[in-house]
Amino acid sequence: ILLIGVALLLGYFIGSLNTAVIVGKAYGKDIRSYGSKNAGLANTLRVLGKPAAVLVLAGDIGKGIVACLVGLALGVTFSSGEAVDSISLLAAGAGAVIGHNWPIYFKFRGGKGALTAISVLFMVDWVMALLCLGFFVVIVAVTRYVSLGTISATILFAGLAFIPIFASTLYFYIFALLLALIVVFSHRQNIQRLLSGTENKLSF
Ligand code: G3P
Repeated sequence: ILLIGVALLLGYFIGSLNTAVIVGKAYGKDIRSYGSKNAGLANTLRVLGKPAAVLVLAGDIGKGIVACLVGLALGVTFSSGEAVDSISLLAAGAGAVIGHNWPIYFKFRGGKGALTAISVLFMVDWVMALLCLGFFVVIVAVTRYVSLGTISATILFAGLAFIPIFASTLYFYIFALLLALIVVFSHRQNIQRLLSGTENKLSF
């Protein structure tokens, strides 16, 4: 339990390094005051352009991976049971998503966790991550709503998580449900905009 708590906390501190806020500051703008006001990749692309978006992409993927590696290292180093390594990986990954959305360094106002979550999922189960990413790409290509792609892929993830061919431990179920709830809850304003037909479309 202590190990899971430490992994969650370390993941949280790593995830709190919200790249969109950091890159925005470097560009002289608080990304949380522009566009959709979200500190994430889509809004960075919208407000600051492609070079800034590439930095956010790299940063958010990188921190998801680092958090998982830290979780894994903690488990390998401090546990005697083999299952605990993966539990601390899951805990650190979940912590990173929580940190991204509610960052301790930036007044707890961050992003919606989708990019951090998918990079964590690649570390946990890359097949499931590829399926979700593919579904996201298809939905965005067809509808041009990034948020709809994210929400749909998140729901697919929650569904896949309960198919026994994928990881089927209690800890994985908790991890999957927690991440899916966080991402969908964080998109509540997008859901309202989608329903009222006022959501931003991605323009190419
Ligand atoms: O992951 C965020 C994306 O799904 C929506 O972002 O800026 O359009 O609200 P945004």
